[in-house]
Amino acid sequence: MVSSSVYRRLLPICVVALAWATHTSGQAQSLPALMPLPAHLDPRSGQMLLDGSFDATIDGFSEPRLERARTRFMARMVQQTGIPMVGSAPGTHARLVIRVAGPSQPVQALGEDEAYRLDVTPQRATLSAGTPLGALHGLQTFLQLVTATPQGFAVPAVSIADQPRFPWRGLMLDTGRHFMPLEQVRQTIDGMEAVKLNVFHWHLSEDQGFRVESKQFPLLQGKGSDGLFYTQDQVRETVAYARDRGIRVIPEFDMPGHTTAWFVGYPELASAPGPYQIERRWGVFDPAMDPSREETYQFLDTFLGEMTALFPDAYFHVGGDECNGKQWDANPRIQAFMRAHGIKDNAALQARFTARVQQLVTRHGKQMVGWDEVLQPDTPHDVVIQSWRGPESLAEAARRGYRGILSSGYYIDLNQSAGEHYLADPLNATEAKGAPPLTPAQEANILGGETTMWTEFITPEILANRVWPRSAAIAERLWSPRDVRDVPSMYARLPRISHELEYLGLPNGGVRIDMLERMRGGSTDSTGVPHLLVLAQVVQPPRDYQRGELKTYDQFTPLNRLVDAIPAESDVAREFTALAGRIHDGSASAADHAEARRWLVLWQGNDAALAPLLSASAATAELGPTSRNLARTAAIGLTALDRIEQHGPADARQQEVLAELKSMAGPDQSALRNMAVPGVSLLVETR
Ligand code: ACM
Repeated sequence: MVSSSVYRRLLPICVVALAWATHTSGQAQSLPALMPLPAHLDPRSGQMLLDGSFDATIDGFSEPRLERARTRFMARMVQQTGIPMVGSAPGTHARLVIRVAGPSQPVQALGEDEAYRLDVTPQRATLSAGTPLGALHGLQTFLQLVTATPQGFAVPAVSIADQPRFPWRGLMLDTGRHFMPLEQVRQTIDGMEAVKLNVFHWHLSEDQGFRVESKQFPLLQGKGSDGLFYTQDQVRETVAYARDRGIRVIPEFDMPGHTTAWFVGYPELASAPGPYQIERRWGVFDPAMDPSREETYQFLDTFLGEMTALFPDAYFHVGGDECNGKQWDANPRIQAFMRAHGIKDNAALQARFTARVQQLVTRHGKQMVGWDEVLQPDTPHDVVIQSWRGPESLAEAARRGYRGILSSGYYIDLNQSAGEHYLADPLNATEAKGAPPLTPAQEANILGGETTMWTEFITPEILANRVWPRSAAIAERLWSPRDVRDVPSMYARLPRISHELEYLGLPNGGVRIDMLERMRGGSTDSTGVPHLLVLAQVVQPPRDYQRGELKTYDQFTPLNRLVDAIPAESDVAREFTALAGRIHDGSASAADHAEARRWLVLWQGNDAALAPLLSASAATAELGPTSRNLARTAAIGLTALDRIEQHGPADARQQEVLAELKSMAGPDQSALRNMAVPGVSLLVETR
C-alpha cells in the first residue's frame, strides 16, 4: 500500500512553495472545511481543545454497530492528531457524548432517518440523532472539524443541525472490466462513509468478467472470471462492513447485454450458439441473452433467487444498458418469435425481457433498478430509473411517476473536473428545454444520484486517485442544500477532504510519486523525479471517451504510464489558468504576475533537465515530445507576459501562435493533455 509519505515526498522546494501559494490563496477560513457542508451551521465562540484525555462516550441507547463506530472514531482521532488518547490521561477531559434515541432498521432502508445534531462547546460536544445512522454521519462531521490551531488540535465551538437533501447518494464501482480486490472495495466504502455517501452500487458482471460466486451456476465464476471473483462469504462480509458505515449495498447484474462472461460457462443463455470467451476488449459487444426462450427465465429465476438472498437491500439492479440487438437480428428463431408476438422492434423485445425479469425480481421480494433504457411505455411503476445518457430521462421518468437517480454528469471515469460534476444537479434537467416544471410530487420522485466509475482505464492501483476527491464534490451536491453551489468554495475545501481520505488509505488528489519512481527505472539517482513531477503536475488524461480512440486498449494492457499516475484534474493548471484569467481581464496583482512568471520559467527550463531521464526507461521515452511541448508553451507564455508587462502592441502573429498552442494541447502520443495551453492562450490573447 502506498503511504501518504511516499505519495507527497520528493517535491522540489520551488514546486512546494508555488503549490502551497496556489492552494491557500483566496481561501476564506470563515467556515470549517467541511464536505459535504451541513444543512445548518452556526459558529459559536471558543473551541474544544483536544489532548490525550479526550474521549467519546455513548449515553443511553446503544448497539454493537454504534460501539464499533465509537471505537473507529477514536482510532481516527488518534490518527488525525497523532495524540495517544486514553481516557485516563491528564488533561482537559473534553468529551464527545453520543446520544441516540433508538435503533435503526435491521436492513438500512431508503429514506431512513439520517439526521443528526452536533453541538460543540469548549468542554463538551453532544452528538444527538434519532438512530445510529445519523450518529455515524455526525461522527464524520466531528472528524472533519478537527483542526490544528496555535493552541493545539481543536474543534471549533459550533452548532450543527444536519440532514441530507437526497436519500439516495451512491457510488457505482465497475468490478467487471478490472476486478477490484476486497481491499479496494473496503477502502472505497471507507471513503464513502467520510463524505456521507450511502449506497454502494456494486457492478458485478460484464462482458469482461463475472465477479460473484454462484453455487447454483458455478460455471459463471468458474469460466467467466479468470478466478477473480468475490465468494459469497466475502459478499456477506462486505455488506456487513458497509452497514457498519451507514451504507447500503445494491448489486448490479447487467442484462440482457454486457453478458459475454456469463456465456462462457452457459452458452445456451445467449442468442447465438457460441462458444464464448471472456471479452478482453472495451466497447459494446453483440452477445445478449435470448429473450425468446423460457429456459432463459428459468435460469434467471434460480439465479436471482440465489443473489437476492445474498444481498439484503430492498433494491436490485439488473442493468439493461447498451444492448445492440445484433444477435437478435441475426437469429431466425428470435425473429419468428417477434413476429408471432407482434413485437415491432428490438426496444420492444428488450422491454418484454425487462418486464419478465422485473416480475422475477419482484417475486424474490426486491424492487428493480435499471439504466435509463429500461424506461419504456409499459415499464412497471416501481422500477427505479438510473439516468446515464442525459439528465432528460430523469425528468421524463419523474414526470411519468417513476422514481429515478442521476448518473449523467457524475461519470468520474470521463476525467472531467470536480467543478463540472459539482454543478450537475439532479433537479437541473427538470428546468430544461421549455418542458413544464416538475410539480413538487414529481420532484419527490428524484431520489438522488450516483457517482459512476467504469474501469476500462482503472486498475486497483489507481482507483482511489480517480474516484477521489471528485466524488466528495458530488457527495456534497447530493447531501447539502441546493443553493450550496459555490465552485471556489468547493475547491477551497477539497484539499482538506482529500488529505483526510489519504488517512483512510486512499492515495488521491495528486500525482502518484511511487508510480513515477517505478517509471524511471532502477537507477538510484532520484534527481530526475522532481522534473518528471513538474511535467506530471500540469498534464491531464484525455476527457470523455477519447483515450480509447487514441490506441487499442484491452484488459491486458498495462496502465502504468504517466497518464495513469496523474489525477483527472491538474490543480496546478486550474490555478495557473485562473492566474492567466486575472492577467487577461486586468485584475491581476503584482504577485499574480510574479507567480505566473515563476510557473512559466519552471516549465520552460524543465525539459532540458528532464530529457536525459526520459530516454533511460521505456516507460518514460514516450514523454519527450510532451516535455518539449510544455517548454515551448511556456516560452510562448513568457513572451506574451513580457509584452503585457511592457504594454507592447498586440502580436501580429497572434493567430499563428494560438494555432501552434492548439497543436500542442493534446492528447498526444502519451495520451496527455498539456494543460498549460489554456492559460498561455489567455496570455497571448491579452491586449
Ligand atoms: C452505461 O454507462 N452503459 C450505463
